Amino acid sequence: QECTGCTESLTRSSSPSIETLIFDFYSLDYHHTLQAASGAAAEAARLETVAQGGYLLVVDGSVPLAHDGCCSTIAGHSNLEMLAQSIANAQAVIAVGSCAAFGGLPGAAPNPTGAVSVEQLMDDGRIRRHPLVNLPGCPPLPEAIAATLAHYVTFGRFPALDALHRPTAIYGNTVHDRCPRIGFFYAGKFAKSFDDEGARKGWCLFELGCKGPTTYNACATVKWNDGTSFPIESGHGCIGCSEPDFWDAGGFYKALSQGNWGTAEGIAAAAVAGAAIGTGAAMMSRKRQQSIIQEHGESEGGTLK
Ligand code: SF4
Ligand code: F3S
Repeated sequence: QECTGCTESLTRSSSPSIETLIFDFYSLDYHHTLQAASGAAAEAARLETVAQGGYLLVVDGSVPLAHDGCCSTIAGHSNLEMLAQSIANAQAVIAVGSCAAFGGLPGAAPNPTGAVSVEQLMDDGRIRRHPLVNLPGCPPLPEAIAATLAHYVTFGRFPALDALHRPTAIYGNTVHDRCPRIGFFYAGKFAKSFDDEGARKGWCLFELGCKGPTTYNACATVKWNDGTSFPIESGHGCIGCSEPDFWDAGGFYKALSQGNWGTAEGIAAAAVAGAAIGTGAAMMSRKRQQSIIQEHGESEGGTLK
């Protein structure tokens, strides 16, 4: 159960591009949106690949278990039947998008289709356990998908993963850690509405519900559309789209508070600590600059330019 946004995202990867991946490195044997074949020929291609074995299975979307799986079927098979069959001889599995990784939108309360993630199916023993990478995001960054595929074909293994099976190279920091508005966060300058003076000046969107502090993703550095921008740079807070259960997390426009990020005092203390770290970093950087200048003889009267 998916919206094809994850495929749309992958087609926008520039490094490597989808063309490089499927013409130079991978044989794309089955994919509803990108394959040339249809109907019986498409299903025959899938079964042939499964019989040969040794393939990488990329799953997009959640799997509905309610009503005997009738909420989503392909070629007369429920998604669970098709996944169980397709995973049989795979080397490894990549769950692309928050739906495949965590259940996503279809799994949001009240979850009428009984949607579950790939990992839940492995935990329940409904499908065979395989090495698994989760690439959450609604959708994931194009480069998160492309880079994981490129890493696997280059090194024959997945990159380092965190406890939720996410590559640490992409999901190792929060959006907040690298946010261009973080200076305003530490300065206590927060936009109060989407069109107030603070918002127009680029102040922090924390009070407008930004979930950047609790969301692990590389949007602030990798960005979207070949590094053009990302939600916060475009004026909207992060809605936490790469975190488990983000649809049910209490409101996109409600500020994080006690219980989901700590107390207001804790946030203030974190801001002070962050400011202190910032000062320390500035001092270290100044010392480093001085030593480089001394080393390379570029000082003017012993002071920094
Ligand atoms: Fe950026 Fe959001 Fe953190 Fe503010 S709260 S610094 S807008 S990530
Ligand atoms: Fe999603 Fe937040 Fe990035 S909403 S796209 S994780 S900035």
